[in-house]
Amino acid sequence: MNIKKVMVIGAGQMGSGIAQVCAQAGFEVFLNDLKEEFVQKGIGVITKSLSRSVEKGRMGEEDKEAALNRLTASTDINDAKNVDIVIEAAVENMEIKTKIFAQLDEIAPEHAILASNTSSLPITEIAAATKRPEQVIGMHFMNPVPVMKLVEIIRGLATTDEVYQTIEDMTKSLSKVPVEVEDFPGFVSNRILMPMINEAIYTLYEGVASKEAIDEVMKLGMNHPMGPLTLADFIGLDTCLYIMETLHEGFGDDKYRPCPLLRKYVKAGWLGRKTGRGFYSYE
Ligand code: 3HC
Repeated sequence: MNIKKVMVIGAGQMGSGIAQVCAQAGFEVFLNDLKEEFVQKGIGVITKSLSRSVEKGRMGEEDKEAALNRLTASTDINDAKNVDIVIEAAVENMEIKTKIFAQLDEIAPEHAILASNTSSLPITEIAAATKRPEQVIGMHFMNPVPVMKLVEIIRGLATTDEVYQTIEDMTKSLSKVPVEVEDFPGFVSNRILMPMINEAIYTLYEGVASKEAIDEVMKLGMNHPMGPLTLADFIGLDTCLYIMETLHEGFGDDKYRPCPLLRKYVKAGWLGRKTGRGFYSYE
């Protein structure tokens, strides 16, 4: 299948990154969110990121302009009637996602693929909200999207080989590396990453070491680019908690029990970088 037009739903951190890499790779992109101000904020982030690439000599000014010209701001989900694929990057909430997918199923052309950037929710359940489960698939990008090479591609129970192949080819055309995984809670990335972050939070909670010491151990001892507590702030503590809850519920094993300190921070509204405070302060 030939993909030319893309709609990205959600202009936040992940959605704007996905829209950027798609526009850079030559796709026509509708960046959609509920309000014009959200979309404009996303386009602002993309413009800044592309300008940095120009400054760094990775891209010419004309290429930047061409990429921006391929981006269209959208606040009307009906724009999905013009696209070959929708990549949904809205909030991690099953009710909201199934509602969006049911709507998209009515609007998008028959041939269109419906993909979700969900970080841990079951693709098969999202697909069941549509009448085209064979064309529903997970495309899990990593944060920050313009920098990170990986895209986890998650097959739902009904996803066809043809749809999988189309998404694998598209991922490569974005200069990303696709990895195929089956639909189980947390897939591969978050099944391994989140329990490590949760354990780092338990280590802090139990007073084993300071936050700086925990991060230093993992950075200098294991060569991680960021310590786990810095990474948790970067991802968002609400997202970390949500993924741990998905793992806990999905596997029913107490080894996935979210740390009470993580819950406390989320209740306080200390969600990490995006709110100016998490384990560290960003004011
Ligand atoms: N957008 C675009 N480019 C960005 C960026 C962003 N948000 N953040 C950093 N960059 C670029 C910088 O511009 C810089 O490029 P340059 O060398 O041309 O200037 C390059 O990345 C390196 O950035 P910095 O020098 O500022 O800082 P670092 O060397 O510390 O790199 C990092 C930053 C790439 C974020 C690095 O710290 C890192 O790899 N961290 C771990 C990220 C990670 O683990 N991501 C996965 C999270 S889990 C996930 O996404 C799954 C989800 O479901 C939870």
